[in-house]
Amino acid sequence: MFSKFFIRFLFYIFSIYFLYISLSFSAGKSFELYDIKFSFDGIFGTFDKPSARRGLQIYREVCSGCHGLKFIAYRNLTSLGYSREEIKNIASEYEIEDGPNSEGEMYLRPAVSSDNFIDPYANINMAKFMNNGAAPPDLSLIVKARNYGSKYVYSLLMGYKDIPDNFDSLNGYYNKFYPGHIIAMPQPLYGDDVEYLDGTISSLEQEVIDITTFLTWTSHPEMVDRKKMGFKVLVFLIFMTGLLFLSYKKIWKPVKDGSI
Ligand code: HEC
Repeated sequence: MFSKFFIRFLFYIFSIYFLYISLSFSAGKSFELYDIKFSFDGIFGTFDKPSARRGLQIYREVCSGCHGLKFIAYRNLTSLGYSREEIKNIASEYEIEDGPNSEGEMYLRPAVSSDNFIDPYANINMAKFMNNGAAPPDLSLIVKARNYGSKYVYSLLMGYKDIPDNFDSLNGYYNKFYPGHIIAMPQPLYGDDVEYLDGTISSLEQEVIDITTFLTWTSHPEMVDRKKMGFKVLVFLIFMTGLLFLSYKKIWKPVKDGSI
């Protein structure tokens, strides 16, 4: 009697708890970010490579003036479908400091495939000085570093609005999605910032999707492999559960039949 009541009690408590969790999650999610669907969403989602490649073009032509990408090496671009030759050409457009040479001096040389993307500023103080006191963060892991990373980056780049009257703007720009709403970064994309190499017509939305896809790849280059592996593990576990259930039936059959 008691135990039945107790189980029912536990059931109610857990139901309320799960309801609470799911409601608070959906409340968190609806922090008014744009509800956009990406090519890499879902268990079978993969990176739209042409989009990520266009994103690289935007990074190189717009964002790289202020933001580094220090955890990505040029050779990592092979997973976006670039050939060795193309990567060599991309790398050789940048110069990096190396050394010391035999005379003890540092020198500049063209980057090679194994170098990481160069930083636009020599050090953080220079980065701050050039940007009204706010250093632009490295973008390699920005999608991982923010809640709802891809949606946040997408919304941020789409979220520049005129400063409302009741807002006092100190050295910043109004962004609907930036915490506190005043961000030191001027609106970087307007829609006609690049002439896409693959002939795609540029628009603000297209550019923002492409750069977000690219930055999601830099944060999670292993995502597609991880999903594939996850799916295999899931299939294996379902198979294993079936097998264990059948063994259980077989092992206990004599007991059930009463022959033991
Ligand atoms: C003129 C320099 C400049 C350019 C160009 C620029 N940014 Fe920024 N960015 C900044 C600065 C400065 C900050 C720091 C903002 C702050 O702390 O208020 C920033 C911050 C960011 C952030 C982090 C926001 C956060 O939540 O902390 C993201 C994401 C970002 N930029 C993406 C981009 C992308 C994508 C591009 C290219 C399309 C780009 N930026 C181009 C200067 C720039």
